[in-house]
Amino acid sequence: MASTPGLLHISPSFLLFVFFSSPFSFVATNDLPLHYLQQEAEKLIRDLNLSPKRYKYSLPHDSLSVPAGKIVEKKFRFPYLDDAAGPSVQDFGHHAGYYGLPHSHGERMFYLFFESRGNKKDPVVIWLTGGPGCGSELALFYENGPFHITQDMSLVWNDYGWDKVSNILYIDQPIGTGFSHASKESDIPHDEEGVSNDMFDFLQAFFKEHSQFVENDFYITGESYAGHYIPAIASRIHQANKANEGIHINLKGFAIGNGDTDPYIQYAAYTDFALENGLINSDDYNRINKGVTPCLQLILDCGNNKGGNACEAAFNYCEKNVFEKILAVAGNINYYDIRKKCDKGPGCYDFSSMEAFLNKKEVREALGVGDLEYVSCSEEVYAAMKNDWMKNQEVAIPALLEDGIRMLVYAGEKDFICNWLGNERWVEAMEWSGQDAFLASPNMSFLVDGQEAGRFLSHEPLTLLKMHEAGHLVPMDQPNAALEMLTRWIQGKLAIKETGATNA
Ligand SMILES: *[C@@H]1O[C@H](CO)[C@@H](O)[C@H](O)[C@H]1NC(C)=O
Repeated sequence: MASTPGLLHISPSFLLFVFFSSPFSFVATNDLPLHYLQQEAEKLIRDLNLSPKRYKYSLPHDSLSVPAGKIVEKKFRFPYLDDAAGPSVQDFGHHAGYYGLPHSHGERMFYLFFESRGNKKDPVVIWLTGGPGCGSELALFYENGPFHITQDMSLVWNDYGWDKVSNILYIDQPIGTGFSHASKESDIPHDEEGVSNDMFDFLQAFFKEHSQFVENDFYITGESYAGHYIPAIASRIHQANKANEGIHINLKGFAIGNGDTDPYIQYAAYTDFALENGLINSDDYNRINKGVTPCLQLILDCGNNKGGNACEAAFNYCEKNVFEKILAVAGNINYYDIRKKCDKGPGCYDFSSMEAFLNKKEVREALGVGDLEYVSCSEEVYAAMKNDWMKNQEVAIPALLEDGIRMLVYAGEKDFICNWLGNERWVEAMEWSGQDAFLASPNMSFLVDGQEAGRFLSHEPLTLLKMHEAGHLVPMDQPNAALEMLTRWIQGKLAIKETGATNA
């Protein structure tokens, strides 16, 4: 389960290729031979028709000065936007900004903030793409952003942008991702503590800058490897609120889409999902399951072991002996969407327009990113998180639910890498005071325009939703249903039909 495009979408599958016995060595210069992991990572980035680049660590030497602990932001308008067809962008607040990380050496976190096309009192929502290490612009342009990018690199308004019902931020994180800048390898977070501290610091500065939004409801959303980030960030914010640390952030809930959250349960689900969906037969199933037992033991060792390379070892073993073995049988399937193959055209997906667009001079000027290079998916961030992958992030969630913070776990049913079955199992296995009532709640139809778009279980504060005919990138595959899901979930009315009647 890894991330996605959009997740990147680069997913954990990168991992697949790590040699079990060779410690990853970080190579920061371009002259040395590429490490095997990076070669494979590059191959996978190419599967998204993106171009891998080695990160050049340096102090930013552009004219833009971003003081530590401060935000430098500008209103912007994207070039190449066909807004004859839509409302003038001047009517909305669209902002691009950098946050200078405290105690840093020129590290900056980049974000885009789109005020709601509806009401400024709509919730503030942050979106996080996975990877780890993929820029959130992938989601912006191909999933739920205000604009979609066309093959000829113009932008068109997205009728199903999540900015219709929220004031939404797309954040490039961890540092080293997208337009966010790391000056040296050690700036890149290696675990969820680092990720959640950076995000907390950023949000404090953001709400100071945009104090008119601080009373709004606040939600965290994201996909894929963000199933790791989100519980950690929600927990960091909630703890700070309880301790009166900094500006109070009005955290109401968080939503995880096709996430990678509880590796023990999710790795155990791979062979079952593959068998149920005809990716493997029962002989393959029995054979590959022999690798599942040691994989699960290694994941437990990772959880019990605070140091060393137990977590990396678990990742390497499980990817090679479970995930990769299933793919070897399943052939050239798109592991983000089992309805598809990766063999035609550019690979599994073609996200190349975004990269070309973001590297255009006019676009870079509009965004105020100086001379910093855009890194769609960072191999370095991917590698930096190698001991984070196998850690269980479910553990932070029950305490949030007990305090009434709401969680939505949704999954496109055609995704393999962070599949529905693994997500259903960890959510149902989670122990909290509402577990029995949740498990006894009726299995409901999620109706959109009179059609069943998915099914869900819900006992507030917890909702689990399976989205039909969607892969890893739910807002890309089912844009209308995904926007309805967000809209109704925020209102606490997932089951309400357009007519206002409850469906069952
Ligand atoms: C609800 O029931 C359907 C079968 O009718 C099942 O496929 C699904 O997994 C159940 N749960 C959810 C949350 O959809």
